[in-house]
Amino acid sequence: MTSILPHGGTLVQRIVQGEEREQLLQKSKNLNSLQINTWTISDLDLIGVGAFSPLQGFMNEEDYLSVVSGMRLADGTVWSIPITLAVNDQQAASLRKGETVALVGEADGVTYGLLEVQSIYKVDQGEEARRVFKTDDPEHPGVNKLLERPATYVGGPIQVLNRPKPAKFEDFYYDPAQTRKIFQDKGWRTVVGFQTRNPVHRAHEYIQKSAMEIVDALFLNPLVGETKSDDVPANVRMKSYLVLLENYYPADRAFLGVFPAAMRYAGPREAIFHAMVRKNYGCTHFIVGRDHAGVGDYYGTYEAQEIFSNFTAEELGITPLFFEHSFFCTKCGNMASSKTCPHDKEHHMTLSGTKVRGLLRNGECPPPEFTRPEVAEVLIEGMAEQVHS
Ligand code: ADX
Repeated sequence: MTSILPHGGTLVQRIVQGEEREQLLQKSKNLNSLQINTWTISDLDLIGVGAFSPLQGFMNEEDYLSVVSGMRLADGTVWSIPITLAVNDQQAASLRKGETVALVGEADGVTYGLLEVQSIYKVDQGEEARRVFKTDDPEHPGVNKLLERPATYVGGPIQVLNRPKPAKFEDFYYDPAQTRKIFQDKGWRTVVGFQTRNPVHRAHEYIQKSAMEIVDALFLNPLVGETKSDDVPANVRMKSYLVLLENYYPADRAFLGVFPAAMRYAGPREAIFHAMVRKNYGCTHFIVGRDHAGVGDYYGTYEAQEIFSNFTAEELGITPLFFEHSFFCTKCGNMASSKTCPHDKEHHMTLSGTKVRGLLRNGECPPPEFTRPEVAEVLIEGMAEQVHS
């Protein structure tokens, strides 16, 4: 049984069901409403199911400022990424503190939830960018997203009335309460979480399996929310994970479930956030490899590992497992890292993401030392479909 407590001690549950939901949906018709986009719907739902425990809603000003400046909520709990609801000036002017507003999907008109307005505040987005992303360069995909939003935020507790429908691979959506129960039923005392927004190449497999040697099981938890357009689409990735698990992982020690959050590309700070969230899903350990959640050259290779030293083991709760940059060494004849391999760089097979994408697009498999052939086939097929669709 996994014994790890959710972050903050209790798994938040703000999904309303049954009679109460019906009543609130009725009531929502007479409330002011705010339009929310896919990203915010995803955040709302993740708060609702407790994946973002201890958050009960979108951050109020006090928590926001505390998170931005010091990676903690106002009560001191570790939290590294602002989870906020941005509104335009017109919307902000119509809001009153203390009122409850309906959160309505901008694309489909569905009332996803309610928000009790506690705090309406203007922010300095440049400061937020520099603190959270360590840059205010608008070329950075996370900063770019941030700067696209209005600079007034609304905070307060939420309730979820409708869940976003999984677009695809519905069978792989599990709420934290479900994964916790599954891990318990399987008798796993220790589970390592693996975040990814990429296909699983040999280096990923190597660090996962190195971790699996010391824990009971792996929770392969790919992020399937919004990513930047040149990342491999989630549906192609899911096929590749399935074929890999089927052929190379013990079925009773590896479990696949999606993480329906948006990717922030905030490197070190996102690594902390990813770890806290996986704790809520019931993981006891979390893998942080090279340039976790990084993009371009914005972060140092191991910055996402170093940031963990700002916090004590007790306040993190989950144990991070750090891995060096891994590669196949032709002299060793196996996967290795600078910690285990004495040979020169010329014997190390490393391929850039761009190079791999180029090969796959041309219908060519990367070397098997880099990507399993079964995975490469799925990726080649996926790329071809993308081109033709
Ligand atoms: S992430 O943006 O979702 O973190 P990615 O899917 O590339 O990126 O990586 C998933 C995890 O594997 C991260 O913890 C990352 O640090 C790690 N990782 C990726 N490639 C390597 C590698 N060659 N060596 C060691 N760790 C790696």
